[in-house]
Amino acid sequence: MDVVTTIRAVRAARKARRGTWGLVPTMGYLHEGHLSLVRRARAENDQVAVSIFVNPTQFGPHEDLARYPRDLERDLSLLAPLGVDLVFVPSVSEMYPSGFQTAVTVEEVARPLEGAARPGHFRGVATVVCKLFNIFQPQRAYFGQKDAQQVVVIRRMARDLDFDLEIVVCPTVREADGLALSSRNVYLNPEERRAATVLFRALSAAQAAWQAGERDGERLREHMRAVLASEPLAQPEYVSIADPETLAELIGAGERALASLAVRIGTTRLIDNFVLE
Ligand code: PAF
Repeated sequence: MDVVTTIRAVRAARKARRGTWGLVPTMGYLHEGHLSLVRRARAENDQVAVSIFVNPTQFGPHEDLARYPRDLERDLSLLAPLGVDLVFVPSVSEMYPSGFQTAVTVEEVARPLEGAARPGHFRGVATVVCKLFNIFQPQRAYFGQKDAQQVVVIRRMARDLDFDLEIVVCPTVREADGLALSSRNVYLNPEERRAATVLFRALSAAQAAWQAGERDGERLREHMRAVLASEPLAQPEYVSIADPETLAELIGAGERALASLAVRIGTTRLIDNFVLE
C-alpha cells in the first residue's frame, strides 16, 4: 500500500498501474462504514485508492473543523489488510494552494436540508470531490447512503460536468442499536450516546407508518417528530419526507420517499435517513 501526499504522485501511480480504479474519498477517522466502501471497491476494481483529507471548505466558520477527529496511523492500519493500493493524504496547501479561487456550485438539490442548515457545505464538498475525480480519474467512486443528500449532489455534479465514472452508493452501516456509524459519534458522552438512537427510532416510526400504507408527507413527518419529542436530549434541526431525486418536500408520497433528519444531541449534530419504498 503506497501512501502519497502529492497530486503529482497520484498521477504517476495512476499512469503506471493499468486496469480499473475505484476511489473511496474520506475525511479519515475511519469506521466500519468507510471500510465497507473499501471492501466493495476492492471487489469491483483492479486498483483501489482511498483519499484521507479533512476538507476545510465544507465546514462552516462555527463548525467542528478544528476538533474533527484525526488518527492517520490508525486509519492506515485499518486500510492495509483490505488490499488498498494507494492512499492519498494531501495537505490543505496541496489541495488549495495560495491563489486558489475556483468552486463548484450545484444549485437546486444542494439548497434544502443540509444545504439550508450548513450554508456553503455542498460547495466545499462538490469542489473537493470534483478535484479528486480529476486527480484520480477513477472508473468508480464509492459513497455511503448515510449522507443521502451528498450522494444526490455528487451524482448531479458528475452528470452535469460529464465525469465518465460510476457513482456507487453503499448501505449505511449501523451499531446493534441502530445508530448510524459516523466519525462524529466519538463526540457523544455515554448519556448522549444512549439518546442518539432516537434518530433511528424516529426513522423506524416513519417506516412503520409507510409500511402500514401512510403516504401523507406531513403525517409521516409527524411520526418522526413525535419520537424525537420523547427524547429530552434531542434538539431536532429538520425532519423531512422528500422526493429521493429532487429532494423537494412531499405532500403526498408516491412509490419512494427519502425520510431524513438532522438532530443535535448536546453539541453533536447527527444526521440519518431511510429510503422508504
Ligand atoms: O463524506 C465525506 O467524508 C466527505 O464529505 C467527502 C465526500 C470525503 C468530501 O470531503
